[in-house]
Amino acid sequence: MASLFRRVWSEFEDRLPPGLLDARRPTTEEVKEWIKQDPFFIVKISGEVVGVVGCSLEDDSCQLKRMVVDPRYRRRGIGSALTKRVIDYAKHHRARKVWLDTLPVLTEAIAMYRKHGFVSSGYLRGALWGADAELYEFVLPSK
Ligand SMILES: CC(C)(COP(=O)(O)OP(=O)(O)OC[C@H]1O[C@@H](n2cnc3c(N)ncnc32)[C@H](O)[C@@H]1OP(=O)(O)O)[C@@H](O)C(=O)NCCC(=O)NCCS
Repeated sequence: MASLFRRVWSEFEDRLPPGLLDARRPTTEEVKEWIKQDPFFIVKISGEVVGVVGCSLEDDSCQLKRMVVDPRYRRRGIGSALTKRVIDYAKHHRARKVWLDTLPVLTEAIAMYRKHGFVSSGYLRGALWGADAELYEFVLPSK
């Protein structure tokens, strides 16, 4: 998992602040800590991790985080499957919404979240190591 995060975020070296890149390129030890704290869902192909997403429930909201798909396997529905998995997890735990923060430069991710019904819900100027963060949310139907 750590090597997938490192490879994916190295693609953005010229577009994202160094502090943000460091936070998104964990060591194996750091990934072990993440997994202890939050549920993670992964997609494997031939035994290799090619897609990862994490999430965390707080009160009645579920944050989707740390979404990455191996560049060799993009546009095959893996990111969508991981997004749907988090939505299902949130529904199962009776959350009211799934939310996430992203960056305007991550246009593929934004297109994907929009495709799955997420809508822009806010903007935090300079919140991510000086880069602007954009918030998206998907409100779950109440039963
Ligand atoms: C965003 C990301 C996870 C998408 O993964 P993926 O497996 O390629 O996504 P999918 O194949 O499920 O694509 C879902 C939809 O996203 C949109 N999309 C994905 N890549 C796109 C691209 N290059 N151009 C335009 N739209 C794109 C499309 O709407 C696509 O649906 P379609 O293929 O039916 O047109 C992947 O591009 C990635 O890892 N990016 C770098 C890391 C990142 O941005 N993480 C998100 C942090 S918030």
